[in-house]
Amino acid sequence: PQSSSTFHDPFSIVSHEMSNLAKSIANLIGSGHPTLNRVSSYYFEAEGKNVRPLIVLLLSKSLAAIPIEQRNRIKIDTYDVTNQPHYNGTPTETVVAGNSVDDSISPLAILHGINPRVILDPLSKPMDKLPEFDAMNGILPKQRRLAEIVEMIHTASLLHDDVIDLSDSRRGRPSGNIAFTNKMAVLAGDFLLGRASVAIARLRNPEVIELLSTTIANLVEGEFMQLKNTVMSNDSQSIVNDGEKKVIPEPTGKVPTKQHEYSVSTPAEVDHITNVDAAFEYYLHKTYLKTASLMSKSSRAAAVLSGAHDDIIENCYEFGRNLGLCFQIVDDMLDYTASDATFGKPSQADLKLGLATAPILFAWKEQPELGELIARKFSEPGDVEIARNAVKKYSGLEKTREMAHEYCYKALQNLRVLPESDARSALEFLTNSVLTRNK
Ligand code: FPP
Ligand code: FPP
Ligand code: MG
Ligand code: MG
Repeated sequence: PQSSSTFHDPFSIVSHEMSNLAKSIANLIGSGHPTLNRVSSYYFEAEGKNVRPLIVLLLSKSLAAIPIEQRNRIKIDTYDVTNQPHYNGTPTETVVAGNSVDDSISPLAILHGINPRVILDPLSKPMDKLPEFDAMNGILPKQRRLAEIVEMIHTASLLHDDVIDLSDSRRGRPSGNIAFTNKMAVLAGDFLLGRASVAIARLRNPEVIELLSTTIANLVEGEFMQLKNTVMSNDSQSIVNDGEKKVIPEPTGKVPTKQHEYSVSTPAEVDHITNVDAAFEYYLHKTYLKTASLMSKSSRAAAVLSGAHDDIIENCYEFGRNLGLCFQIVDDMLDYTASDATFGKPSQADLKLGLATAPILFAWKEQPELGELIARKFSEPGDVEIARNAVKKYSGLEKTREMAHEYCYKALQNLRVLPESDARSALEFLTNSVLTRNK
C-alpha cells in the first residue's frame, strides 16, 4: 500500500532527538571499567539503523498532537526546570497535566495554550540526567528516555545474538564476539540490560516497567524458540572465539551436548515439524517474540506515557506489532537475496543455520517432501541447494513479500487513529519503506 503521503524524510522531524541519542545512551552506560566501556559502547559507535528509537520518537510526536483535553490526567514529569523559560527559582517541579487546569505556567501549558497545574514536589530530587523538555516539540522527556532504553535493549540482544548465531559481522564491522570474545560480548549485553533496567525503573511508571520487562523476556523466548530449531552443539559454538578454534571437553554429567536433546517438546512444538500450517503459526509466534514484541510494547509505552485513551493505546500497540512482523518477514526475505556487503551482516545464513523462515515454508506448502529437509534442518549435503531451488520454483520470495505487505497495510490502518500530522506522515512513510528496503 503506498501511503497517501508524499512525505520524504522521517528523520528530519526528530533529528534533534536522534542526534542526541548516542550521547544520552553513552551517559547511561558509563562504568568504572575501561574495557567494559569499550565493549558495551562498541555497537553504538557504528551506524545502526536506529529504527526502534525513531519509531518511539515519531509516535510520541504524533501522540503530542492529541489535544490535552482528550487525554488522561498524567504526571508528565519531575525534571530540572532551571533551564526552562518559565523558571521562577524553584529547581524542581512536578508537572501534572490533563483535564484539570490551574493557573501556574508550565512547558506543557506553553505548548497547548492552557495552564496545567504545576505541583511542587518537595521530595523529588532533580532528574538532571533526564533529557531537556522541549516545549515546542511535544515529545516528553520520559518518551525520549524510552527511545534510548529501547535501543539499549535491542543492542544488548544483538551482542548476545551474535554469540548465539556464531556471527562474525554486525553494522559493517566485526561483531562483538569477534572483536572482544564471546565472554565479554555476553557480559556487555548483560550490563546494557542492567543499565536499561535502572533507566526503566526511573521512569516511575509501573505499566511501562511491566511492558519493557515483558519484552526482555519475550526476546529470550523468541530466541529460544529459534534456537531449538537450529543445529548447534557446544562444539560448534566453540568455533567463534577470537577466531580460534578451542575444543570444549565433552560434558561428563547428565547434560546433553546436542540441542535437540534438551528439548521437552510440547505437542504444538512437535506438530510444527510435520505440519506446514502449524509451522507457519510457530514461525509467526517466534517472529512476534523475537522482533515485534519490542516494537509493539515500546509503542504502547509511548502512548501510555502520553496519557492517551485506551483505544489509542491499543492501536499504537497493534501498529508496533504489525510493523515489527513486517520488518522481520522482510528481513527473512532479504536473507535470501541481499549480499553481506549491503546487509552489513552475513546473508544467506538462515538455511545454513537450519532455520526455516517464510520463503521455504511457502515452498513447503507446494512441495510436501521439503518437510523432511526442514525436519533435519538442511543438514545433509545438497539440502540447502534443494531448498533454494524450491523457493525459486514456488515463488517463495514473492509470497513472503505479499505477506509482509499485509502487515504493512494493517500498520497503516492503525496509524489512522492518530491526528494527522507531519510525524504521522513520517511514520506512514517509514512503514512503507520497510517493504522496499534492500538492507
Ligand atoms: C532493525 O534493525 C531494522 C530493520 C529491521 C530495518 C528497518 C528499515 C527501515 C524502516 C528503513 C527506513 C529507515 C530509516 C532510518 C528511514 P536491525 O535489527 O536490522 O539492526 P540494526 O539495529 O543494526 O539496524
Ligand atoms: C536478531 O535476530 C536477534 C534478535 C532480534 C533477538 C535476540 C535475542 C536474544 C539473543 C535473547 C537475549 C536478549 C536480551 C535482551 C539480552 P537474527 O539473528 O535473526 O538477526 P540478525 O541477522 O540481525 O543477526
Ligand atoms: Mg543473528
Ligand atoms: Mg539470531
